[in-house]
Amino acid sequence: MPDLREALDALLQDVPPARLTESVRRLIEDYRSGRPAGEPLIRTMVDATAYAAYRMPATHAAVGAALAQLPPIDPRSHTDLGGGTGAAAWAVRDAYGPIPATVLDQVPEALKLGARIARDQDFQWQPWRLGEPVPAAGLVTASYVLTELDEEDQRTLVAQAAAAATTAVVLVEPGTPPGYRRMLAARDQLIEAGWHIAAPCPHQLACGMTGKDWCHFAARVNRSALHRRLKDASLGYEDEKYSFVAALKAPAGAPGRVVRHPAFRKGLVTLQVCRPDTSVGPVLVSKREGPLYKAARDAEWGDPWPPGD
Ligand SMILES: C[S@@+](CC[C@H](N)C(=O)[O-])C[C@H]1O[C@@H](n2cnc3c(N)ncnc32)[C@H](O)[C@@H]1O
Repeated sequence: MPDLREALDALLQDVPPARLTESVRRLIEDYRSGRPAGEPLIRTMVDATAYAAYRMPATHAAVGAALAQLPPIDPRSHTDLGGGTGAAAWAVRDAYGPIPATVLDQVPEALKLGARIARDQDFQWQPWRLGEPVPAAGLVTASYVLTELDEEDQRTLVAQAAAAATTAVVLVEPGTPPGYRRMLAARDQLIEAGWHIAAPCPHQLACGMTGKDWCHFAARVNRSALHRRLKDASLGYEDEKYSFVAALKAPAGAPGRVVRHPAFRKGLVTLQVCRPDTSVGPVLVSKREGPLYKAARDAEWGDPWPPGD
């Protein structure tokens, strides 16, 4: 199966970076402002191309990393709300194979570019505005969309996702305190609607993360040469921080979850773990604990803990 990186490289190889820099600059500014967007932020084909070049690899990586935290599911079909250039459709295809996928968005240019990038994929691209009917699917996703909506529209989107999904709803947002707060509100709404939270939380109760902390994770993204030039970056990778919530129709007993980068000292691993009893705190695993210590050394931010539960 071709991957998104190859498809993007093929499409973008002849695009001069200078054509995209103004759109990249404006989009970064608009997304950083955190204000709900009164009008579409991607407005032209150049904006859509800029988004695909500098942003889509990161949103794709975040959705893929969120899906990797779910228990096994067999969604059979996928609808992506506010799917833009199709990042989540690629991530779902990577996770569950080539199931029928429909990408819905208000910006025709984004859909058109997404279709070009995914020309070998059987994705459907459908113009759609929030509130319009949503095709039912096993899995309904929305990534980095709530951030563009005011609170009333956020509730509408979550309600539409919950009504259209038959197996799972996965919502992904930037891994910032406001992104996390949006995930908490969506989580409450999904629980009220009868859904069961499957990840990242190991329980259905109030989030135990208190104080200045917020629940988020990181996905490693390898930057292409164009990506580096557009972001004026020297590193060959970046870590995309994301918050998310995944809910299933059927109850799923979730284990604890590692909610920070593990800390290593000689003979000791410290894992920050969110537990089924809602407490969030350190778990110390020493070398004396043999196989558990080996598992702790291998554990990563976002992994279940204890292992094999
Ligand atoms: C930041 S982009 C995210 C795109 C894609 N989901 C991703 O993860 O890369 C937000 C998308 O939400 C879409 N969107 C925002 N408000 C919308 C609305 N009211 N109706 C339909 N689409 C909307 C935008 O057009 C845009 O493509």
